Amino acid sequence: MVLTAINELNAQRQADANASWGLVPTMGYLHNGHLSLIRRARVDNGKVIASIFVNPTQFSPGEDLASYPRDLERDLALLRQEDVDMVFVPSEDELYPEGFQTSVIVSEAARPLEGASRPTHFQGVATIVAKLFNIARPTRVYFGQKDAQQCVVIRQMINDLNFDLEMVVCPIVREADGLAMSSRNYYLSPEERQSATVLYRALSAAQSTFIQGERDGQMLRSLMAKIISTEPLAQIDYVSAADPNTLRELDRINDSVLLSTAVYFGQTRLIDNILIAAN
Ligand code: PAJ
Repeated sequence: MVLTAINELNAQRQADANASWGLVPTMGYLHNGHLSLIRRARVDNGKVIASIFVNPTQFSPGEDLASYPRDLERDLALLRQEDVDMVFVPSEDELYPEGFQTSVIVSEAARPLEGASRPTHFQGVATIVAKLFNIARPTRVYFGQKDAQQCVVIRQMINDLNFDLEMVVCPIVREADGLAMSSRNYYLSPEERQSATVLYRALSAAQSTFIQGERDGQMLRSLMAKIISTEPLAQIDYVSAADPNTLRELDRINDSVLLSTAVYFGQTRLIDNILIAAN
C-alpha cells in the first residue's frame, strides 16, 4: 500500500496497533543495501513500512539535490517483491508545510567527518528522522552501517529525546569488487567506477595492518591516504581512524576503531568505512 498523507498513515498504524512495526527510512533509488534493511525488518516485525523521500533539508546549496537519482516505479516494484506492507511517499509540502520552523540539532556527534564537510547535513537528517519516528511510531528502525556517522547521530538523538524504539544497524552491502552500494554510484563514469574500488582497498589494507598489530591511528590514516592517492581520479576529502562512539580521531587505538573515508571522483563524493569492534 502506497501512502502519501500523514493522516492515512496514522489510520493504518492505528488499525494495526498491536503489531510490531519496522521502519526503513530511505531516499529511494533502491539497491541491495536498502533491500538488506527491508529484509531484516521483515524478519523482525509483523509489519514493515518503508519511506521514500529525498529530504531537501539534508542537502546544502550546490549539492546534488536536483540531480539525485529517482525512479519511484522501479522502487515500488522492488518493495512489492519484498512484501513491504506500507510505502510512505510524502510530498515536500506534506513534511515541510509553509511556516515549518523547527529542527533537531545533535551537536558533538554531528561535527567531525561528514559534518565538517557538510555542516548542515545532520541537522536535516535528524529532523526528518525524528519526524518519521513520530509519524510512523515504529517498534524498530533500520539503518545501514554504510552511513556510520548517521548511525551515531541518530542513536544520540534517540537517547537524548527518549524515542521509545529499538535501533538496528545492518552491515554494509558491497558490489563484488568491494565498492559499497550507493545510489550515488550511478553518477560515476566507467573510469571513475573502476577507480572507486580504491576506497575498500584502502580501508581493507588499514584493517589488515590493524590486525597485524598496528595501533597508531596516524599510521592507519597515512596508509589509507597513500593508497587512495595512487588513483589519479580520486580526491581525498578525509581519512579517519576514530573512536566509534565519540568519532574523535585516535592517536593510540585500544580495541575498537572506525576507519572511514570520503573521496571525490569528479563531482561525485563517496563514503565508506570499516568498523573494527572490540572482541
Ligand atoms: P539513503 O541514502 O537512501 O539510505 C537509506 C538507508 O540505507 C540508510 O540507513 C543507509 O545507511 C542504508 N544503506 C545505504 N547503502 C547501504 C549499503 N551499501 N549497505 C547497507 N546499508 C546501506 O541515509 C539516507 O537515505 C537518509 O539520510 C535518510 C536516513 C533516509 C534520511 O533522509
